[in-house]
Amino acid sequence: MKNIDLSTTLCGVKLRNPLVLASGIVDTTASSLVYAIENGAGAAITKSISPEPRKGHKEPIVVAVGNNSMINAVGLSNPGIDAALQEITDAKKRTKEPIIANIFASTVKEFGESARRIGEAKPDLIEVNVSCPNVDDEFGKPFSCDPDLAAHVTREVKQKTKIPILVKLSPNVSNIAAIAKAVEAAGADGITLINTVGGMVIDVESATPVLSNKVGGWSGAAIKPVAVKAIYECYRAVKIPILGMGGVMTGKDAVELLMAGAVAIGIGTAIYYRGMGAFTLIQGEMREFMKSHHYKSIKDIIGKAHSRIDEYEDLIT
Ligand SMILES: Cc1cc2nc3c(=O)[nH]c(=O)nc-3n(C[C@H](O)[C@H](O)[C@H](O)COP(=O)(O)O)c2cc1C
Repeated sequence: MKNIDLSTTLCGVKLRNPLVLASGIVDTTASSLVYAIENGAGAAITKSISPEPRKGHKEPIVVAVGNNSMINAVGLSNPGIDAALQEITDAKKRTKEPIIANIFASTVKEFGESARRIGEAKPDLIEVNVSCPNVDDEFGKPFSCDPDLAAHVTREVKQKTKIPILVKLSPNVSNIAAIAKAVEAAGADGITLINTVGGMVIDVESATPVLSNKVGGWSGAAIKPVAVKAIYECYRAVKIPILGMGGVMTGKDAVELLMAGAVAIGIGTAIYYRGMGAFTLIQGEMREFMKSHHYKSIKDIIGKAHSRIDEYEDLIT
């Protein structure tokens, strides 16, 4: 299966394969980013980096919820931008594969300043997390809930850096395509879809919410249909590339998100259930699928579900 081409391009950055370590999954240090790449990731994204160190929420911060899924409210714990600069600089020295810095801030201005500063470490891309469900911003809700706020952050970040940016959007909105259009118009080079889905677990014996933050973000296999819908809708609404993620556990899952319109795929919760070997396993499963369905390249798959619909619509009109 050597003649199957898994390489792809994300916002002008070449990836040897489309599988990217998602933000927040063992990715705070240079060693952990490089470890994911050594284990087959096409690129690695850092945990969200805030201007100052953050402790995050008190335990419990994660609860498993059946079917390879979980709800977390980590609260964006991270050592802050000074430490992250060193880790990314170090990671860039240790690998040729792309390193993506994920930034998070509480105000529009701080987002711009973080983008400027993180640029000193020369990440290949910057992912702008405007969509964490577990923390509030200066307006009391994630920026990605409102097209104008999301566009405002995008414009500010674009003014402060020349590095291409991906804006990471939340599925917890009524019209995600409208948000995607707003950030595209504001200059985003690409979008990441999706961050976690809002969720909650109550322990009925003690009649108490399980997570200390009470509510959290749902990830893993159960949310894949939400991700597929978001990618599918946004692919039709914008021209910028989509980094798709949400519930990808297997090669077929990855193919499904590519067919919806993603050009690359984030692997998050799968790491907890399949280990770091997930990158190699999922690539093997993709190759099997592609071989049996006579696809030679990822490019033959991206957006495929749309061309079929267009063919069908042509037939009935
Ligand atoms: C434990 C955990 C921590 C996360 N932390 C972050 C984060 O710091 N920044 C961010 O943008 N997304 C974060 N995410 C969201 C993931 O990057 C991803 O968007 C989401 O989990 C969906 O993908 P998955 O189903 O493959 O996990 C986190 C997810 C999990 C499970």
